[in-house]
Amino acid sequence: MVEHSRQDALTVARIVRVNHAGEFGAIRIYSAQILVSKRFWPRCVPSLSEMLGHERSHCATFRAAMPSRHSRPCRVMQFWSWGGWLLGFLTALLGPQGIWACTAAVEAAVHRHLDDQLFFLAGRDRELHGIILSIREEELAHLRHAEEQLRSPGPLLNLLRAAISVTTDCLIWLSTWGDSTRMTRALKAAKHA
Ligand SMILES: [Fe+2]
Ligand SMILES: [Fe+2]
Repeated sequence: MVEHSRQDALTVARIVRVNHAGEFGAIRIYSAQILVSKRFWPRCVPSLSEMLGHERSHCATFRAAMPSRHSRPCRVMQFWSWGGWLLGFLTALLGPQGIWACTAAVEAAVHRHLDDQLFFLAGRDRELHGIILSIREEELAHLRHAEEQLRSPGPLLNLLRAAISVTTDCLIWLSTWGDSTRMTRALKAAKHA
């Protein structure tokens, strides 16, 4: 690992914490969607289960990256747990298009965050940079799969996608008590340095 300034070390710790919580939320979203899909939309189950497997491994990877970066799991994991579950459950009740609109919105948000993080971590924490790079590949595959399933989304589906996007950002902000904003600010500052 590269030596960081104190401020950089704090940002790195925040990155790992927010990502760990986000992966946990993703596990809960996919779990709830699988639960509903098993009953109503069995054709969605195989891809959702594959994605759930990925999210579990991402979550474990970020958890393992915490101790050496003086990071600890988010204080309000219950919030992520039930927020994610509810989001997955409600979108799955809308049908397969609801499921894929949710996946597309969440994975697009994840992708945006990971891109910013990669920029910051390059030259600061090469190990974490490598971890996020490989995870980003799988998240991108999730996003592409969801977008392929969304046949000609109408205005209603686009509205749902936008609503989920806002909800996701609110969840991230609330659960980290603004940590994510401070993190984003630090990432932006690094970009313009
Ligand atoms: Fe993930
Ligand atoms: Fe994902």
